[in-house]
Amino acid sequence: MSKKALITGITGQDGAYLSELLLKKGYEVFGVRRRVSVDNLSRLREFYGPGFDADKKIKFRYGDVTDSPGITRLIAEIKPDEIYNLAAQSHVAVSFEQPEYTANCDALGALRLLEAVRTLGLEKKTRFYQASTSELFGKVREAPQTELTPFYPRSPYGASKLFGYWITVNYRESYGMFAANGILFNHESPLRGETFVTRKITLALSRIVLGLEKCLFMGNINSKRDWGHARDYVEAMWLILQQKKAEDFVIATGLQYSVKEFIEAAVKVAGLAIKWEGRGLSEKGIVDGIGRPARDCGIAPGMIKVKKGDVIVKIAPEFFRPAEVETLQGDFSKAGKKLGWSPKIKFAELVREMIISDLKLARRVIYLKTGGFQ
Ligand code: NAP
Ligand code: GDD
Repeated sequence: MSKKALITGITGQDGAYLSELLLKKGYEVFGVRRRVSVDNLSRLREFYGPGFDADKKIKFRYGDVTDSPGITRLIAEIKPDEIYNLAAQSHVAVSFEQPEYTANCDALGALRLLEAVRTLGLEKKTRFYQASTSELFGKVREAPQTELTPFYPRSPYGASKLFGYWITVNYRESYGMFAANGILFNHESPLRGETFVTRKITLALSRIVLGLEKCLFMGNINSKRDWGHARDYVEAMWLILQQKKAEDFVIATGLQYSVKEFIEAAVKVAGLAIKWEGRGLSEKGIVDGIGRPARDCGIAPGMIKVKKGDVIVKIAPEFFRPAEVETLQGDFSKAGKKLGWSPKIKFAELVREMIISDLKLARRVIYLKTGGFQ
């Protein structure tokens, strides 16, 4: 009999990679999707390609982690061996605009799932993974951050996830449940939501390079993150639930880069160099040289529509947050030792994969507009 996994948040970035991993491992995968007025399976459809709808490998159920009766009914029906709670209002900046909803979903959502497992008497059967985050460290107390670093969240998102973290620990300690946190640092991919900084950059720069847009408007480009690849990180989620004993793990690369460095790496793939002038809100990114695009990036030199001296990055006050997490850098030694996990995909490779994917999207837009390349 194959194991049953229930994934909340299956329509998000990590849901796509995790469902693929679990299907490959022979799991029966159930995914919770929200009822929305637009098609929220489009990311999965793009990821899995033709045949996704027809083969029905993933068993979808409508549900919402803010709805206890619905969640309890689902768990009663499926009786999963493993639950991966990925559902969240996951955008830090948006959490300042919707703090109560964020808490309902990101804090109480975890509690609702844990309580459903307990009240259904599944606490010895069902293992629970909570998608915790490096945002818990917020205004960091030490660097790099480990499982023992004190938390200091800096947003309604971080504060909500702090409850999610501790309630997971509490159900483990109170009821002997296998409930564990993955404290994951930022992880990205071509499937990343379009308003997170890495994807916003690769989408906009691709369009700028090919002449579909003029300028990218950014917030704090000096903040530093420890960026890994989602494909590597979902493997850690699975490993965390396969251990003898439930424990919490930091999952990171151990390396950090600034947002500015991410921009520089992204334009380099398209053959551009960028220089920075000015300070604060007046800082600008200016094209400083145009070389050959990387051979496999799908664009020829003649397709590049920017020229030396063009201002392609500007700063806009609306993208700054009321409180910022300036720097994050994780220490994944515990995961290395106990899970045998380490990140495989390096920063340069991640940036490359993302920009090449978005250049392809931009080329498709041009093709649809013009019937060919100009
Ligand atoms: P994402 O792309 O934003 O996906 C979030 C998922 O949650 C989507 O499927 C979304 O559904 C779903 N969702 C939102 N509100 C919900 C609700 N009330 N009920 C049910 N589902 C709901 O996030 P991600 O990057 O894949 O991250 C997955 C999880 O890991 C999140 O919990 C996030 O906070 C956490 N995390 C992410 C990172 C990272 O760098 N990516 C790092 C640490 C922790 P719709 O498609 O309908 O919106
Ligand atoms: N989104 C965004 N948009 N961020 C910007 C921008 C912009 O225009 N300009 C600068 N930034 C900065 C943010 O201020 C932040 O310091 C950094 O870029 C990264 O922002 P995001 O990509 O939005 O991610 P995040 O670090 O706030 O949160 C992500 O990672 C967390 C793990 O540390 C999310 O995926 C969270 O769900 C996750 O928990």
